[in-house]
Amino acid sequence: MNTKVEDILNAQINKEFYSAYLYLAMSAYFDSIGLKGFSNWTKVQAKEEMDHGMIIFDYIIARDSKVNLQTIEAPDIVFDGPLNVFEMILSHEKEVTESIESVANLSEDECDKATRCFIDWYIGEQVEEEAGTLEVIKKLKMFGTECSMLYHLDKELTQRQYKSHNYHSIG
Ligand code: FEO
Repeated sequence: MNTKVEDILNAQINKEFYSAYLYLAMSAYFDSIGLKGFSNWTKVQAKEEMDHGMIIFDYIIARDSKVNLQTIEAPDIVFDGPLNVFEMILSHEKEVTESIESVANLSEDECDKATRCFIDWYIGEQVEEEAGTLEVIKKLKMFGTECSMLYHLDKELTQRQYKSHNYHSIG
């Protein structure tokens, strides 16, 4: 793999682990305000983000290239209720989608067909992540601040379960 592709993939590892940190901060926040279901949803997402980072890590190694781990930024920890957090998630995931598209575009420009093919799984994953987030935002907007509905939504979000992914399972 050439250096440009190697660099953008290493930067993407950092973004995935930053995402995990961000979701963990959100999970702790939800826990602190007693929303266990929201806390579960964001904690499951944090684990998935770690998988996303590890899959790229293993891919770089499989291509006999160099993993270059960079400092993970501390997440913003100022949150203001479930709707604010989920709008923050959607905006964050849209940025990640752009970043994944940049990997796809660069691998095309550099004629790296293996990376172009590899990154397709992430393109599909981003569609799912944005859709799942939007679904929660729509419900939050519909319910407004009605406590009983928030209670039910929180219960619903306790059901999200972590499904692990790794480099071999996505192929
Ligand atoms: Fe790994 Fe939320 O994108």
